[in-house]
Amino acid sequence: MIVVYGSRYGHAKRYAEEFAKLTGVRAVPCKEVKRIEESAVYFGAVYAGNIKGLASAARRTDAAKAEFFAVVAVGLTDSADAATQNALQRSALAALPAPLQKKLKMFYLRGGIDYAKLSAPHRLLMKLMYAAEKKTPPEKRSAQAAAIVETYGTCSDFYDETAAKRLAAELLPQS
Ligand SMILES: Cc1cc2nc3c(=O)[nH]c(=O)nc-3n(C[C@H](O)[C@H](O)[C@H](O)COP(=O)(O)O)c2cc1C
Repeated sequence: MIVVYGSRYGHAKRYAEEFAKLTGVRAVPCKEVKRIEESAVYFGAVYAGNIKGLASAARRTDAAKAEFFAVVAVGLTDSADAATQNALQRSALAALPAPLQKKLKMFYLRGGIDYAKLSAPHRLLMKLMYAAEKKTPPEKRSAQAAAIVETYGTCSDFYDETAAKRLAAELLPQS
């Protein structure tokens, strides 16, 4: 099994490294992966609904040699929200070639955001989204809109300390 991650500000990387440590394998940044010829656990940060680096990693994966291809989407939105999970699963499926779609096991975790560390384009995008979402009354906001409004301008970290153990128990029940 290989652990791969696509992360810009370190939240997906932190989950990947914790999971890799627990399972005794190496966590590799997606840009360093040449070929994947085994089962994989891909930790990818969510940017505008897309899972960072996933399509490119999937193209370099030999589906026939993978027992499973797990994707852990790490976003800011409440990871238990059903609409969010549906959208992310569709996004993951769209990034995978058909043979790999059959091997997909999908997971959702919450990352975080630190406005002090955002790039200028990212800060601008968040500002535009915040301005749009703020107009919706709180009780009518989607989970994504609520997350954007509640964390706007802050340093928020939703790291889940129990995630690595839960993932390992689900993916590698024999270990
Ligand atoms: C420009 C931008 C777009 C984002 N889009 C989404 C999104 O569509 N859904 C979501 O849940 N989180 C979104 N996020 C939040 C990131 O997924 C979150 O900050 C994540 O923890 C980043 O992971 P990383 O630190 O590994 O890059 C966005 C963040 C930025 C800056």
